[in-house]
Amino acid sequence: MKLTYLGHSCFTLRIANKVILFDPFIRANELASGINFNSIHADYILVSHGHSDHTADLVDLARNTGAKVVSSFEIHTWLNNQGIENTHPMNIGGKWLFEFGTLHMVFAAHSNSLPDGTYGGVAAGFVIETSEMIIYYAGDTALTTDMRLLAEKFTINTALLPIGDNFTMDYKDACKASDFINCNKIIAMHFDTFGYIKINHKEAIDYFTNNNKQLIIPTIGNTIEL
Ligand code: NI
Ligand code: MN
Repeated sequence: MKLTYLGHSCFTLRIANKVILFDPFIRANELASGINFNSIHADYILVSHGHSDHTADLVDLARNTGAKVVSSFEIHTWLNNQGIENTHPMNIGGKWLFEFGTLHMVFAAHSNSLPDGTYGGVAAGFVIETSEMIIYYAGDTALTTDMRLLAEKFTINTALLPIGDNFTMDYKDACKASDFINCNKIIAMHFDTFGYIKINHKEAIDYFTNNNKQLIIPTIGNTIEL
């Protein structure tokens, strides 16, 4: 399983022969200027919530790639109204079997609106359950005890958590979240993109190490084998 970082909270995850793209925000991200936007391929686009730092490239990429977009019912309707028809609506607590495995839409403690002000439903995270491993993509979220439920339901192998503070939890809360979800391998997201969320990488990594956990701070454009 290959995970490629496209900056902010945007990743592609290759499972078997399918490519899943998370929260597309590339062209407006100065840090991601090295990414060749036109070469991005996806079979599925998963959208955690509607804020522009998660959806700025959603409509164009959905159109260019023809990928199936999985999101809240409200974002699905918003996309349909813009002529994007290949969508799959979900809501918190539900699951669906796709070609790559079972996708669970789970709670995120965050707000959710689209760039034009349309209500986006409840902000979400995703748990991807495949025969090989279970991955948790938290979206934008605060630390919440709801995460403990994930450890009861799933054996999570790798988790992608926001660590940038201000709009989401910081790295210390992310470390606590890794206790709640019982997963010690954390990949960081939602950091450094804007002044509000700049972090000290060494402090964050050392904090995890001191708690006997691994924090991987990905480099934009690089691919990690999970
Ligand atoms: Ni947000
Ligand atoms: Mn965000």
